[in-house]
Amino acid sequence: MGTRCDQTPAWAQLTSAFEASGQSFDVRAAFAADPQRFSRFSQDAPHVFADLSKNLVDAPTQSLLFDLARQCGLEQHRAAMFAGQVVNSTENRAVMHFLLRNPPAGQYIPRHAAINKIADMQAEVEVTLNAMLAFAGQVRANDHITNIVNIGIGGSDLGPQMAVLALRAFADKPQRIHFVSNVDGQQLLDVLAACKPHNTLFLIASKTFTTAETMLNAQSAKAWFEAQGGQDISRHFAALTTNIAAANAFGITTTFGFWDWVGGRYSLWSAIGLPLAIAIGGKAFRELLAGAHAMDEHFCHAPLEQNLPVRLGLLDVWYRNFHGFTNRSIAPYSHALRRLPAYLQQLEMESNGKRVDTQGHALPYDTAPALWGEPGTNGQHAYFQMLHQGTSVIPVEFIAVKNASHPLPGHNSKLLANMLAQAQALMVGKTDNGGHRHFPGNRPSTVLLLDELTPASLGALLALQEHRVFVSGAIWGINSFDQWGVELGKVLAKDIESRLHSGDASGLDPSTAGLLARLKT
Ligand code: F6P
Repeated sequence: MGTRCDQTPAWAQLTSAFEASGQSFDVRAAFAADPQRFSRFSQDAPHVFADLSKNLVDAPTQSLLFDLARQCGLEQHRAAMFAGQVVNSTENRAVMHFLLRNPPAGQYIPRHAAINKIADMQAEVEVTLNAMLAFAGQVRANDHITNIVNIGIGGSDLGPQMAVLALRAFADKPQRIHFVSNVDGQQLLDVLAACKPHNTLFLIASKTFTTAETMLNAQSAKAWFEAQGGQDISRHFAALTTNIAAANAFGITTTFGFWDWVGGRYSLWSAIGLPLAIAIGGKAFRELLAGAHAMDEHFCHAPLEQNLPVRLGLLDVWYRNFHGFTNRSIAPYSHALRRLPAYLQQLEMESNGKRVDTQGHALPYDTAPALWGEPGTNGQHAYFQMLHQGTSVIPVEFIAVKNASHPLPGHNSKLLANMLAQAQALMVGKTDNGGHRHFPGNRPSTVLLLDELTPASLGALLALQEHRVFVSGAIWGINSFDQWGVELGKVLAKDIESRLHSGDASGLDPSTAGLLARLKT
């Protein structure tokens, strides 16, 4: 890591720039002053066109942000990740999900000496991917299996679920793919109501194979399978995990592995993507990987000034640390992308929701914004009121698809018109003497545009988001790849669960004890 961001000369210059002109920046005036603003602040990246011109940033500020990136050592940090160095220091792990989407490197020849660790890993990745896609092909060809039930949570659920919905137009088999994540048994029961043991394949998706919710759902699914007379667990259960031994101990022999250098929220590209591979087939799954790889190449090689993940990540820093914006709203104008906000929520908030630097020292500045959203136009009829007229400014990220995947006339133009209109209204506003009908305008938004929603463009869009989170995390000097903040609740839940049985409230705080007593009666 380079110099901490708030100790760089660029940070001080950005602070002055914000005071001098940044806080009073008016994007409408900026458009009036610069006829080239749209082209200056928009750019093509693989499969994604981005319009950044409605953001509250000018060219001098953007150039200071690039200085900030260089002074914080962003390029070195990026090189370290791509070189397989231990970027995730608190877990002593490399971070190499990008390897999962590299093009095939050829036949795997096992080596005894780790002469070239990455090349060895790359070859192992290819062998595993081939096995996983071959299995997906068998399942797709098996007319007896009509239900696939993915049991997993967090990264072992959000990615595949979001992608299966996103690429439904490419799902060419009648098999139904269900996702069970919640330990609330109702979700599992609702799914099982549609299944019979002989026509169901359970995928137990868990990187660690220890996550409490997933383990209980898996046990209940297995108990249901056996109670209903199900035969042959090896054909009806598969595990997607780095912990093959635990999966075997559970009784599952069909397993697809991955590696500790794949973070849970970065695991869609690994065996965790199996439900998607079953839905769309191996060829399309490889197109997803290729789209992501194209974005990896862009992130690795494009100069910072024309590097879309870098530009987005720096804008995130500008908004969070100088403007003080606390939220980012995600608005996919695409029904197929309706689970994207939930997926991005984990990506951003579990990665960058950190209060200490990589050395464990408390940070004097803010990190990740809260991230949330709903697909358009639904959000317009719910919370957009606040985006337009609320007291807080919340940058919006619109995601739109030029060509629809359906033939219904009139729908796509209405959808796109609404997206453009919202972005326009946020920026332009409407003067009404400050009364109820007044829109202040000057509210920032970004538009990410795909020509079509395909496996390749989805792959690129997701890799773009991964890398922009990397960029802001690198500027903030935090470890974007651990998630210690989820541990305390897990430990306490175990303790409280046993107290729910025993009723023992000793040593608990009065509120928890009071609630426990009510739940016991
Ligand atoms: O508790 C958080 C978390 O560890 C996420 O990071 C992860 O995606 C999720 O739980 C599921 O973990 P696993 O795949 O090991 O079951």
